[in-house]
Amino acid sequence: MATEMPIEVLNVPTPSFLVDIDKLERNARAMQDRCKHLGIQLRPHTKTHKTIEAADILCGGQKRCIAVSTLAEADLYSDNGFDDILFAFVITENKIVRCRQLHNKIGAFHVMLDSKVGYEALEKSPTGNGKPWSVYIEIDVKYHRTGVSWQSDDIVNLASLISGNNGMTFRGLYCHNGDTYNYIGSEAIKEAGRESTEILMKVKQRLLQHSINCGVVCMGSTPSCSHPDESMSLLEEFSPGNYVFYDVMQKNIGSCSMDDIAGRVATRVISQNVDHNILIIDCGFLAISKDGMENNLPKSPWIIQDNPNLRLVGMSQELGKVTTVEGKVDFAKYPIGTMLFIYPYHSCATAAMHPVYYVHSGDKIMAMWRPIRGW
Ligand SMILES: Cc1ncc(COP(=O)(O)O)c(C=O)c1O
Repeated sequence: MATEMPIEVLNVPTPSFLVDIDKLERNARAMQDRCKHLGIQLRPHTKTHKTIEAADILCGGQKRCIAVSTLAEADLYSDNGFDDILFAFVITENKIVRCRQLHNKIGAFHVMLDSKVGYEALEKSPTGNGKPWSVYIEIDVKYHRTGVSWQSDDIVNLASLISGNNGMTFRGLYCHNGDTYNYIGSEAIKEAGRESTEILMKVKQRLLQHSINCGVVCMGSTPSCSHPDESMSLLEEFSPGNYVFYDVMQKNIGSCSMDDIAGRVATRVISQNVDHNILIIDCGFLAISKDGMENNLPKSPWIIQDNPNLRLVGMSQELGKVTTVEGKVDFAKYPIGTMLFIYPYHSCATAAMHPVYYVHSGDKIMAMWRPIRGW
């Protein structure tokens, strides 16, 4: 791991993850402004960056009200003055001991469940400090991953159990509307957000008919929170995460513009394979991840900055192969040592490959951020 901070972007070791602090701050402000306009509490999800510094910026310096994907993140933030943390991952018995520690450590720690098994795990393990577990029920609207199906009676059953248990408080509903990744363009994204909001409001209404008050409805994905429909003001909380860096996937969906992408991988040409029209770079899949290679995506979903005729076409662990879209590589233009900057297809996966982020403003390195890793 590098210990000394380079002064210029052009001096960073390669491969490295670069974070453009000006773009990140702009993305943070834009999301805060959207939430203010809609009258919604922003609960930024920290899964993409996993750093103290970015979370602080996304929270507008408040150091409160975040969602995390791992207990390692929850430990990091609770150790560093953050409060009101939602562990936005369905609870299971094996995680209860650490959750109890977190619950006892900070003012507000929330857990989430989607099953009676999760409920029973909490029931068996009271918090021990007189302060009840604060529980969200995760709802599956259209994403079909974790969450109770929005049509299921299990929602009412679970909410009744939680509300009727002295050791628990029913905080509300949580939905990661990841289905918005299937739409393209702001209008389609808005429509998807509107539909999911409408469904969540129906669930809330159903709970009210059973005299269960649903204090908070939290929904989040970067596409829908970047282009929120006005009806999303009916929600109480937004929990997007990826918008901190955005990426080529978000640009393709229409969540952001190319200019909003705050994360890049710096790499250098390390060899020229003239016979095969290929530049070899020191960025393999351990520096950018394989996300983007699967399914029916275009063959080269990454973008090499300022070099539209270059494409990353292959990767092994530590090496990448770059060739041209058309014609021959101009090998004189890309001597060994040339630095290239690659925009990640999926910044959550790319950032996860790096133990340190080089944070820059223009060409100057301002800081090195060290994300938390593990679970
Ligand atoms: C449970 C949960 N909530 C929120 C988010 C944030 O969504 P996005 O990355 O689209 O901002 C994710 C992303 O995977 C998630 O899994």
